[in-house]
Amino acid sequence: MGHAEPQVATALQPYWMPFSPNKEFKAEPKMFSRAKGMYFYTPEGKEVIDASAGLFCVAAGHCREEIARAVYEQLQTLDFTAPFLRAHPKAFELAERVTQYTPAGLNRVFFTNSGSESVDTAMKMALAYHRVKGQAQRQLFVARERAYHGVNMGGVALAGMVNNRRAFGPGLAGVYHMRHTALPENRFAKGQPDHGADLADDLQRFCTLYGGENIAAVFVEPAAGSFGCLPPPKGYLNRLRQICDQHGILLVFDEVITGWGRMGANFGAQAFGVTPDLLTMAKAITNGAQPMGAVAAKQEIYDTITNAGPAKGVEFFHGYTYSAHPASCAAGLAMMDIFANERLIERGAAMSPKFIDAIHALRELPIVTDIRSIGMMAAVDVAVDGTPGARGHEAQKRLYDAGLNLKSTGDALIIAPPLVMEDKHLDEIVAKLRKVLSGL
Ligand SMILES: Cc1ncc(COP(=O)(O)O)c(C=O)c1O
Repeated sequence: MGHAEPQVATALQPYWMPFSPNKEFKAEPKMFSRAKGMYFYTPEGKEVIDASAGLFCVAAGHCREEIARAVYEQLQTLDFTAPFLRAHPKAFELAERVTQYTPAGLNRVFFTNSGSESVDTAMKMALAYHRVKGQAQRQLFVARERAYHGVNMGGVALAGMVNNRRAFGPGLAGVYHMRHTALPENRFAKGQPDHGADLADDLQRFCTLYGGENIAAVFVEPAAGSFGCLPPPKGYLNRLRQICDQHGILLVFDEVITGWGRMGANFGAQAFGVTPDLLTMAKAITNGAQPMGAVAAKQEIYDTITNAGPAKGVEFFHGYTYSAHPASCAAGLAMMDIFANERLIERGAAMSPKFIDAIHALRELPIVTDIRSIGMMAAVDVAVDGTPGARGHEAQKRLYDAGLNLKSTGDALIIAPPLVMEDKHLDEIVAKLRKVLSGL
């Protein structure tokens, strides 16, 4: 039955690692025990530059003392309070601070603990909103191929990456997927590509086929992140907005990666000039130092759901034990200070053109088949070698050995450094990529 287990230290076995090749990792562990600024350090003390901001989280660089101190002090002052029927002041303060960054009108904030929870929360908000407006028939969702919306059942149903779906078939019904926008004619485009705005008309086709009045919401990442950086074609998001408006469908931007400066603006919504009705976020809201996610909703959605509820009863039957956890709120508030005091989002925006040019210079390597980029995120595709994804996986391992950490998806290497990256770090990242990719 199956393959023999590789020889591994017993102590590594009990931990079932997420989204990881457990057998391979436990035979050949790649661990970090410390981090500071732009770097991770292995238990042996080797320095590894962080080219993916952890997992798109660490916008301000690792181990920020301000955040650590805020969390420590919070845990000594109020470690926990139930978020249902009770609350603590920092939850309100953080919600208010977040609305200083969200697009105008999205000024009601619901806290979760992750991107996945934010996505499923937004799905429930959409369903609840339509129901209280007397449109309970709006049960369908539209998403897109090559999308990642987390791992809870709602998000998996929305997802458009086959490995995240194929084992979980039943229960994923009621979602229609638009085509992805990775067109061959857009290869090596810098920023938003020219071709593909018309792919948004897939939404119109679903409205015609299934009835626009039956669709609750459309979920898209403004620029797909986990799949490997797919910026929206020029005009694409505007077209989605128009079709949603024509049919009364809510538009949801999943900004778990694209939020908090990654696109060169507060959120992708502002970077691309299109305002959604609901916006999910997570990751960099606390610099990754505490688990936290959020959904920003248009006030009209909050008002509609809240006003439809009883005068003294619960209006929206949803929430998590750790929604607005005091330590996460403290971390979030410290991060809001960093965003403001260090003009972090502007700093990332200023670095973006140099970053994009430097990554695109890798185009000359024969193994590179495409490069896509926007803001402070880029993906370098390496040519498929036998099994799709095998070369990307090998590249990611060799880069680690060469002292560079990044996330790969299939044969795409995703580069999304902390927004505090300086020229010397960019030089180091590009030099290491060039060396390893040249030898693959
Ligand atoms: C667009 C998007 N949505 C949702 C998620 C899920 O977030 P989490 O892993 O925090 O649950 C991610 C994670 O990368 C993401 O990129």
